[in-house]
Amino acid sequence: MAWAQLLCFLCLVYLSAFVCNCHEEKKVHVVYMGDLPQGGESLQSTHHNILHDVLGSHSLAKEALLHSYQRSFNGFVAKLADAEVAKLRAAKGVVSVFPNRRLQLHTTRSWDFLGLPRSDPLKPTEGNVIVGMLDTGLWPESKSFQDESLGAPPSKWKGTCQATNFTCNNKVIGGRYYDIANMSVPGADIRSPRDAEGHGSHTSSTVAGQEVQNASFYGIGEGIARGGVPSARIAVYKVCWSFGCNDVDILAAFDDAIADGVDILSVSLGSNTATPYDKDSISIGSFHAMKKGILTSCAAGNSGPYRRMVSNYYPWALTVAASTMDRKLVTKVVLGDGQTFVGTSLNGFTPNATAFPLVYSGDVNNVTFGVGPEMSKLCLWGTLSSKAEGGIVLCDVTYDGAAARMAGAAGIIMPISYFETAFAFSVPAVLISYEDHAKLFDYIRTTETPIATILHTEEFKDVMAPLVAAFSSRGPNPISPEILKPDITAPGANILAAWSPLALASLDIFDSRRVDYNIISGTSMACPHATGAAAYVKASHPDWSPAAIKSALMTTATIMDPRKNADAEFAYGSGQINPMKAVDPGLVFDASESDYVDFLCNEGYNTSLVRLISGDSSNCSTPGKTWDLNYPSFALSLLDGEEVSASYTRTVTNVGCPNSTYSYEAFLPPSFNVTVEPEVLTFTEVGEKKSFTLNIVGPPMVQVPIVSGSLVWTDGNYTIRSPIVIFNDMPTSFLTSTESTQKQNSLVKKVLELPQGQKYMNKLQPVPMTRITVPGKYLA
Ligand SMILES: *[C@@H]1O[C@H](CO)[C@@H](O)[C@H](O)[C@H]1NC(C)=O
Ligand SMILES: *[C@@H]1O[C@H](CO)[C@@H](O)[C@H](O)[C@H]1NC(C)=O
Ligand SMILES: *[C@@H]1O[C@H](CO)[C@@H](O)[C@H](O)[C@H]1NC(C)=O
Ligand SMILES: *[C@@H]1O[C@H](CO)[C@@H](O)[C@H](O)[C@H]1NC(C)=O
Ligand SMILES: *[C@@H]1O[C@H](CO)[C@@H](O)[C@H](O)[C@H]1NC(C)=O
Ligand SMILES: *[C@@H]1O[C@H](CO)[C@@H](O)[C@H](O)[C@H]1NC(C)=O
Ligand SMILES: *[C@@H]1O[C@H](CO)[C@@H](O)[C@H](O)[C@H]1NC(C)=O
Ligand SMILES: *[C@@H]1O[C@H](CO)[C@@H](O)[C@H](O)[C@H]1NC(C)=O
Ligand SMILES: *[C@@H]1O[C@H](CO)[C@@H](O)[C@H](O)[C@H]1NC(C)=O
Ligand SMILES: *[C@@H]1O[C@H](CO)[C@@H](O)[C@H](O)[C@H]1NC(C)=O
Repeated sequence: MAWAQLLCFLCLVYLSAFVCNCHEEKKVHVVYMGDLPQGGESLQSTHHNILHDVLGSHSLAKEALLHSYQRSFNGFVAKLADAEVAKLRAAKGVVSVFPNRRLQLHTTRSWDFLGLPRSDPLKPTEGNVIVGMLDTGLWPESKSFQDESLGAPPSKWKGTCQATNFTCNNKVIGGRYYDIANMSVPGADIRSPRDAEGHGSHTSSTVAGQEVQNASFYGIGEGIARGGVPSARIAVYKVCWSFGCNDVDILAAFDDAIADGVDILSVSLGSNTATPYDKDSISIGSFHAMKKGILTSCAAGNSGPYRRMVSNYYPWALTVAASTMDRKLVTKVVLGDGQTFVGTSLNGFTPNATAFPLVYSGDVNNVTFGVGPEMSKLCLWGTLSSKAEGGIVLCDVTYDGAAARMAGAAGIIMPISYFETAFAFSVPAVLISYEDHAKLFDYIRTTETPIATILHTEEFKDVMAPLVAAFSSRGPNPISPEILKPDITAPGANILAAWSPLALASLDIFDSRRVDYNIISGTSMACPHATGAAAYVKASHPDWSPAAIKSALMTTATIMDPRKNADAEFAYGSGQINPMKAVDPGLVFDASESDYVDFLCNEGYNTSLVRLISGDSSNCSTPGKTWDLNYPSFALSLLDGEEVSASYTRTVTNVGCPNSTYSYEAFLPPSFNVTVEPEVLTFTEVGEKKSFTLNIVGPPMVQVPIVSGSLVWTDGNYTIRSPIVIFNDMPTSFLTSTESTQKQNSLVKKVLELPQGQKYMNKLQPVPMTRITVPGKYLA
């Protein structure tokens, strides 16, 4: 069971508060109108007039218009009935109209593990970098957000601090919150940039938290907690409330953040449904951020390990998967006969006795509640009886552990399949394998007085790391299969960072303990590591485009082992981020706004739409393929039985040494023929661009879900690596024969707006990579 799923339990509690609103016919919608028009007229009155035309009166328009986006892009939020939505879709200047959705939120050893040293050689310029966090807010009094040794904010900063129950300083230089649709819950939410959930304090401190000595969660993970760029500035944009995050608020945050002058945006939230690029708030917001030179770093989602579930797959954003680091959190349970079982949890309790009675949950059902053993086995709320008091309870499923607390138990043991994520409970707890669970059950049944102790969680070195976490969402990209997603992986399992003292310290909502630092897991924790690395690159290259920074992170990533990561690139993209190397990548695959506009054209958007989005006279008159985008990775999606034949043109920009000569190596299984023209790239100055074409020819893909390889350029010093992924996109049976010959896979998906992953849960098996070509030698 994943953290997100466990948290959903909480969502249900709050969702019930909205049920009574069902008679309301008008729903909150986003009306997206593309780029800001030339010549600064008041957009609010334009929006009002559009609504006036559709609704028929001044007062109805005024009532319906909830918010105008007008600082960084053009659009508005309105309450609309279906008929009004249809009229607006046809209105002049409108790109798209879509209903508001509710998105989910998907040390510190981690930066040491990534090789980023504490004594930061870039410190002087790091203070110029402003990172915008779209999240649950932040706890400004946390030690991680103090501003010792930081000067005044850079002069480009134009943001504000909404000082409602919140204070800014030279570390946290801005704070805003958004609740356009009035969906925060009084009592549960604080209408302020202040964090009541913990999530935003955690992500913000991972990016840019100051060094804090001796941080831990009840002694677990004890050490120095620090962000990747401890001198960078944080701008808070609170868009998430206790029930989730609204599209309308996310867009308002992008609208402000871009105009406020942030350098990098971090977005650890997303939806589980694949949505076209013009109807997705994070897609639209990150596109306009890219136009202004701001890279958006996004979480890939926590819907793994199934295929095609990756969120935030826009080519102009960085999509980050979650992997493990070399610190393993181990909790042991010792039985009366000396047997020791190893599991995981965040057990901060130190046992004050060597043994407690070990009982099976099915034997201690709560008769008063009217539940039998079948129910109490599951250890749901109130299902255990006081017979469990003082004992350790063995349960058959993993739940929030509250049942054990309610019964006064001394501990709880539950089974789980994945061990990369440790959870905290309100009583001593450990999660063990199903195999060990059976052994414990056997011990209880065959021992006269079964006893056990659960020990405090210990730390060990994890020699298998990095492994992509099971919960991390896998590719391929559900909308544009030929843009490989996720892009990269970063630590996202058991990350220690700052917490809100208003937030829960464990999964039990009645756990009264409060902590300043907590250990949690998710791609939400991986995303801020990539954000920190991007900010680190930005600090030394303030003029680099979002695509150049992204390319630098991707082509220098540490190679992951496909034998240990079953879904290969669909799990980890280019590999694990390496901030120290990304600062000096040698070559970058750059892309400008017009490249992304061409990409949109190739995805089927027409000239009139593209002009609204870009705000210029771009056109879609030169048709191409989606894979023509100058992307730092290569993907080819094929139908089962289709032969491999692809040709990619790419342009690299020299950011290394003026005079350098690069040659290539390609790695793919021997049945593929790979050629690159030209075989050598010679540069004489920095900033010079050189193009090359990669041709791949191979046998039909039959019953082989994925073939991975790579193209590597090197001058003997720098190494620029791009993964190559060739895969069977979907079962042929899904498409009609006309469609399959037209190969309009992505269009079909767009039309149907398929929930991601519903049909394609087949697991991938990687084909081991073999080196097959050496430049010059291959053709000989
Ligand atoms: C917002 O919602 C609350 C209930 O959650 C309600 O009391 C309040 O009047 C609403 N405010 C507006 C401006 O609609
Ligand atoms: C201000 O924040 C505190 C937590 O520090 C909270 O208890 C209080 O309710 C908040 N006040 C308002 C007016 O939101
Ligand atoms: C760290 O904190 C613990 C208590 O939480 C304390 O016992 C220990 O001495 C501290 N260590 C350092 C190095 O400050
Ligand atoms: C330790 O013993 C005390 C007193 O018997 C008890 O109150 C406390 O809950 C125990 N702690 C744990 C972790 O079992
Ligand atoms: C058993 O059920 C009763 C009735 O619902 C409830 O009051 C009691 O708290 C439950 N006991 C435990 C230990 O959960
Ligand atoms: C462009 O696409 C939009 C949306 O699909 C459509 O409404 C419009 O008619 C198209 N315009 C042209 C000139 O084809
Ligand atoms: C489209 O753009 C190209 C290149 O910018 C230009 O040559 C062409 O004339 C444009 N076509 C139209 C119809 O605007
Ligand atoms: C690069 O090479 C050119 C010609 O080979 C030479 O004129 C130039 O001085 C070199 N530049 C550097 C920085 O070495
Ligand atoms: C690869 O190239 C060799 C030599 O040119 C040729 O014989 C072979 O058929 C090619 N294989 C494929 C799959 O195109
Ligand atoms: C080699 O690469 C490193 C960074 O990886 C760079 O600092 C150095 O200048 C390069 N040296 C040469 C001779 O290219």
